[in-house]
Amino acid sequence: MTFPRPLVWINCAASVDGRLAFDQGARARLSDPEDLARVQRLRAKSDGIVIGIGTALADDPSLRVHWELLDGAPGSPPARIVLDSAGRLPAASRLLDGSLPTIIATSERCARHYPAHVTTIVAGAERVDLERLYTELHARGHRRLLIEGGARVLASALKPGLFDRFTIYVAPLIIGEHEAPPVVSGPAARRMEDVLPLDLLAVDRLGAGYVASYGPPRAAPSLLP
Ligand SMILES: NC(=O)c1ccc[n+]([C@@H]2O[C@H](COP(=O)([O-])OP(=O)(O)OC[C@H]3O[C@@H](n4cnc5c(N)ncnc54)[C@H](OP(=O)(O)O)[C@@H]3O)[C@@H](O)[C@H]2O)c1
Repeated sequence: MTFPRPLVWINCAASVDGRLAFDQGARARLSDPEDLARVQRLRAKSDGIVIGIGTALADDPSLRVHWELLDGAPGSPPARIVLDSAGRLPAASRLLDGSLPTIIATSERCARHYPAHVTTIVAGAERVDLERLYTELHARGHRRLLIEGGARVLASALKPGLFDRFTIYVAPLIIGEHEAPPVVSGPAARRMEDVLPLDLLAVDRLGAGYVASYGPPRAAPSLLP
């Protein structure tokens, strides 16, 4: 599957038992300071940070680059990109505060109107289609996306030909299962032929935890060398 798209880097933080957040999706600050700085470097190198509406509703993030945690002068801020097929992002959300470039990726079924400072991209009939969105973002000049989650978005984004790097910070703690979101929430493989194989590139200790870096399956196209 080859089509013009930005380089796509997926990043998340998880517990040792593979949870992205606490019970019922309550936000868990799993990164320690060293990992927070790593994430800020990733954000600073991106021209778009992507999250799903589930994360926007659960966490109300600003998705800004904390330049104060980085060396050097602030660069141009990446766009905040929310996958929101039905237009559910609350008007009072920090993502709609007009302080940074913001893109809502939505579907044809969405009738919502946003303030003039928000860019809307329709990329799908019922739900945001990542391939269509990436093509459109590429045409608008985006060359490097950082996808931060959550679990459903990671299920859609972790597909051969759709990503170039997947990094996961694993914090040394256990959250437990029940209603805590897993790293990937999507259809489960029933046999080995259906799993997504990953190419383990590096495992680095960072702070109290570690970062594992993966590439797509070796046969899948990637924009990274
Ligand atoms: N630890 C971390 O690194 C980290 C990072 C981010 C989030 N989180 C956690 O993750 C949890 C939220 O995860 P979540 O799975 O509930 O929500 P999510 O993945 O953030 O958002 C999922 C929603 O995005 C919309 N969407 C639109 N197009 C999509 C597509 N192509 N693929 C997938 N989703 C699409 C769908 O809603 P519509 O159909 O209405 O558009 C979908 O239900 C929160 O608890 C948050 O704290 C953790």
